Amino acid sequence: MEFLDLIAASAPAQALKGSFWVYPLVNAGHILGIALLIGAICVLDLRLLGIFPNLPTPVLAAATVPVAATGLALAVLTGLLLFTVKPAAYAGSDLFLGKMALLALGLINVTLVRRTAHWRAIAQGTAPAEPPTLLKAAALASLGLWVGTLLLGRLIGYFM
Ligand code: HEM
Repeated sequence: MEFLDLIAASAPAQALKGSFWVYPLVNAGHILGIALLIGAICVLDLRLLGIFPNLPTPVLAAATVPVAATGLALAVLTGLLLFTVKPAAYAGSDLFLGKMALLALGLINVTLVRRTAHWRAIAQGTAPAEPPTLLKAAALASLGLWVGTLLLGRLIGYFM
């Protein structure tokens, strides 16, 4: 609890609570990060699942992975700032904890995908057009995990 109290009294928390503009701007940054992350991930995952079969995966990956990574960094940074406003309430919320669990699973999923031989071939530009079934399953899981994270994030606003 003491740690959460320290967060609630921190300078970022005071700035977010004390200014008319800071909270909406940080919130807009969170939404921009989410849009970049999910928009880019959807395009790549749908390609891995067989939609847009004529688009070369290495070209798509080269464009979408940096956009998704930038979006994730922005969403995490702004999310941590938003957390400072009501840390005890968020830490005690099942929706928030569920959102963090899905986020962690999404990160584990992407880490495992990047270790596969097919992903290395994508990075080197030598991947065959059709990904293996396991990678398709990971792409489906990725879509579910990131969209699930988004849904729980949005629900927090309604139920807290
Ligand atoms: C460490 C990472 C993150 C933290 C700590 C975090 C924290 C938060 C907090 C505290 C809020 C405000 C909730 C409220 O309305 O009271 C929020 C909103 C939200 N978050 Fe996150 N978030 C993180 C990452 C993400 C990611 C990766 C996504 C999507 C994939 C996401 C989706 C959302 C959505 C959709 C909202 C509602 C925005 C709105 O309607 O204004 N968050 N987040």
